[in-house]
Amino acid sequence: MEKYLENLKSYARQNHIPIISDDGCDFLLNFLKQIKPKSVLEIGTAVGYSGSLILKTLPDARLTTVEKDEQRVAFAKKTFEELDLLDRVNILNIDAFEVIKSLEKNSFDFVFLDGPKGQYLKYYPYIKKIVKSGGYIFVDNIYFHNLVKGPEFVKHKLRTIVVNLRKFIDVISTDREVSTKFYDDGDGIAVILKL
Ligand SMILES: C[S@@+](CC[C@H](N)C(=O)[O-])C[C@H]1O[C@@H](n2cnc3c(N)ncnc32)[C@H](O)[C@@H]1O
Repeated sequence: MEKYLENLKSYARQNHIPIISDDGCDFLLNFLKQIKPKSVLEIGTAVGYSGSLILKTLPDARLTTVEKDEQRVAFAKKTFEELDLLDRVNILNIDAFEVIKSLEKNSFDFVFLDGPKGQYLKYYPYIKKIVKSGGYIFVDNIYFHNLVKGPEFVKHKLRTIVVNLRKFIDVISTDREVSTKFYDDGDGIAVILKL
């Protein structure tokens, strides 16, 4: 499995398919080892790289993973199949917002938010509802190449993402129904505990 995932990582990097950074991934997997969630939702499957690592780290867990790009879904399905993980994964080829709007309250122990960064603000109330009390929302790329922290000029194309991430950080920092910690690992990580 290790060799397959190493090759998949190289393939993704060479082909500009965004996958979690090594640093962010180590952080995520160490955290999962501690809290051992049973039901995990991932927003942003890409080619199944982080999803496979999540399932490998959590042998008793089931993963629901959402990806809007049809080709990536087909690729990810092959990844899970090759690694013998397909029976523990539900891959949804649909816009993430459609999924989170329709999921039941308290459906998941853990949500890995790794999809469209500019949408997290909009997703947040729905995601918070579907996570159980005592469960976590783990957000990657919260500092978005450090643009979110810095005062530098942000190119027009990225400005909405950066502005929305700043608002999102504000919301999760002040929401009294959760407890949030921020880390500089990877591209910035927020770990939100639902109280
Ligand atoms: C950073 S990548 C996910 C990487 C993956 N979690 C990993 O580390 O292996 C983000 C993915 O989210 C998908 N995506 C973007 N907007 C989406 C949306 N609205 N609904 C579902 N998927 C979306 C992209 O196509 C992309 O594959």
